Amino acid sequence: MRNQSSPPALPPARLLQALGLCLALTGCGERTTQAAVKGGDPVQGQRLMAQYQCTACHAIPDVPGAAGNFGPPLEGFGRRSYIAGGIPNTPDALTRWLDNPQSMKPGTPMPDLGVSPGEARHMAAYLATLR
Ligand code: HEC
Repeated sequence: MRNQSSPPALPPARLLQALGLCLALTGCGERTTQAAVKGGDPVQGQRLMAQYQCTACHAIPDVPGAAGNFGPPLEGFGRRSYIAGGIPNTPDALTRWLDNPQSMKPGTPMPDLGVSPGEARHMAAYLATLR
């Protein structure tokens, strides 16, 4: 099933970063500490987070929607060491978290939104670009 609305455009700096083409000149040249998310497409991830309305609970840079604050803001998430306070922030752990938060932290208030593993991977790829 396709989403009818077209995806929001990525700002140029983030797009470059997402493509790994960031140059010192563009001002986004901070070295990544987190490994790239294999098979994840940040552009699709950004669109999916709008579609799943993650913004109902999270403020997420460049994802449109009413920014809720039930969940923590996800700004700079690519630099965070931990997910939900204690899970090391690796690409695989972040993908599993988005796919099924309860399996990573029983009792967490973050709901399972029915995200597929492939979709979770795309969203993890976008979150990894947030520095
Ligand atoms: C109903 C509200 C709600 C929705 C919808 C929601 N989340 Fe969350 N999310 C939370 C809460 C609450 C936490 C904190 C969980 C904890 O610490 O146990 C959380 C935690 C997270 C974290 C870890 C944040 C941190 O600072 O460690 C990420 C990443 C995340 N959510 C991404 C998403 C994405 C992507 C979506 C959409 C697919 C989404 N969330 C949808 C409530 C929500």
